[in-house]
Amino acid sequence: MNYCCPVCKKTLKLVHRTWVCENRHSFDLAKSGYVNLCRNFKASQGDNKEMVASRTVFLEKGYYQSLANEMVSLVKKLNPEVLFDCACGQGWYTKQLKQAITGEVHGFDMSREAILHASKKDKESHYAIASIFDLPAFSKSVDCITLIFAPTAAEEFHRVLKENGILITVSPGENHLFELKEAVYDHPYKNDHTPAVLSGFDLLEQRFVETEIFVDCPQDIQALFMMTPYTYKTSEQDMAKLKALQTLKTRVHFSICVYQKKVNFYKKSIDID
Ligand SMILES: C[S@@+](CC[C@H](N)C(=O)[O-])C[C@H]1O[C@@H](n2cnc3c(N)ncnc32)[C@H](O)[C@@H]1O
Ligand SMILES: [Zn+2]
Repeated sequence: MNYCCPVCKKTLKLVHRTWVCENRHSFDLAKSGYVNLCRNFKASQGDNKEMVASRTVFLEKGYYQSLANEMVSLVKKLNPEVLFDCACGQGWYTKQLKQAITGEVHGFDMSREAILHASKKDKESHYAIASIFDLPAFSKSVDCITLIFAPTAAEEFHRVLKENGILITVSPGENHLFELKEAVYDHPYKNDHTPAVLSGFDLLEQRFVETEIFVDCPQDIQALFMMTPYTYKTSEQDMAKLKALQTLKTRVHFSICVYQKKVNFYKKSIDID
């Protein structure tokens, strides 16, 4: 698949190690093989080095392997020719998805640190720094999009997906990390895992993966906590409780939603107006 130029929207072609369009906008491949196709790129955007490193430690120990397995089996059945893993982070899931299918797999994230890590670890998928709200891809060029623990860009996903294309999202199920929350907060609450209503998409299915994990050292507990949104809104007192934990047994509970693109949805709404 050729990318689309982020500046003028013409086709980018790979010449040696540079993507170039007919208007001579050019984007060099980095040594590790990724390309920066983000308009208005800022080095500080997306997850930083510390966040990427701690998520890597945690994921590579296999605590979330049950989710990766379910995603692999779903994607294998779909067998897409082109799959985008949007907000792919350091490519831990992306790499496993690529190993399961023959089609091409592209990982996009706006964090340079995450994409650098992914492109070093996985030479089979293609990686680019890009915002998922402004993908460097032509309309109707993608069969399947995966979106794991990240914000949704429904309108952009609708644009790039082919007719009847599939979007698979992963978000926390109601029991996700409940025992971790119990250990830290006085009044832990369950997540609301009602599927999001996405404009331009039909929800085909919601399925869950639920299992118990044993996190066997304080470093991994800390790494897990840093992967969650709670890391930004926890008091010093509650953080002290977290730091005192030596091991942790907790449920992980993932909500997987499979959506299908509604054909002509945006066109129709414009016609009605
Ligand atoms: C919680 S992490 C999940 C990463 C990966 N999917 C995983 O589960 O390991 C969220 C990711 O979204 C990325 N991100 C946030 N906003 C983004 C955007 N607008 N475009 C691309 N990536 C974005 C962050 O840089 C980060 O890597
Ligand atoms: Zn251009």
